[in-house]
Amino acid sequence: GCRLVVLISGRGSNMQAIVNTVRDHALPAEICAVIANKAEAAGLEWAGAQGIASLSVAHRDYPSREAFDAALAAAIDAFEPDYVLLAGFMRVLTPGFVEHFNGRLINIHPSLLPAFPGMHTHQQALATGVQWHGCTVHFVTPVLDHGPIIAQGAVAVQSDDTPDSLARRVLQLEHRLYPDVVRWLAEGRVSLDAMQRVQVHGVASRSFVL
Ligand code: GAR
Repeated sequence: GCRLVVLISGRGSNMQAIVNTVRDHALPAEICAVIANKAEAAGLEWAGAQGIASLSVAHRDYPSREAFDAALAAAIDAFEPDYVLLAGFMRVLTPGFVEHFNGRLINIHPSLLPAFPGMHTHQQALATGVQWHGCTVHFVTPVLDHGPIIAQGAVAVQSDDTPDSLARRVLQLEHRLYPDVVRWLAEGRVSLDAMQRVQVHGVASRSFVL
């Protein structure tokens, strides 16, 4: 099966949705490890309780981004993954790290990219007045929150939305979107064409609406 390593920084609800889907739908995939950049990331304990190798590579223990990324890459490489899934991983990765996992590194971001890269996306969406918001699963390139888009999910913004209420609905969508992308990866449907655009073979739609 397809070997997956998931990187988290906190709660890990996307990681949990992926783990549950792989198990419940018997996907041809294996979550080989869950790795966090801090030992206290809540998702690590959950993953460990599922019998998944769970470890931390604490960014605070390293003097530079390069040193941290080298240690993280080594920890990941030990599991020989086909794909590395960023799921609420809140560290900016160096170009060297991204290059090392070229074509194998995937992220979920809580906005309809290219709108609202970076932090506080729900607040940014409300401040801008967009009527549609959502989430994006994409291949990672050295440019933050940029790269070939695999799938997107949209939610309508409501007039009484707060950053929290919007975050909750987007998160619900994330928990459908990311596991679907994992299924496509596990089934070998995803590729990049000569233009660096994503092709997903045998899938009619890569857009979701909540
Ligand atoms: C998710 O909303 C994810 O899209 C976002 O953090 C949250 C993590 O939740 N990721 C980013 O903002 C990446 N820059 P989770 O830990 O419960 O999956």
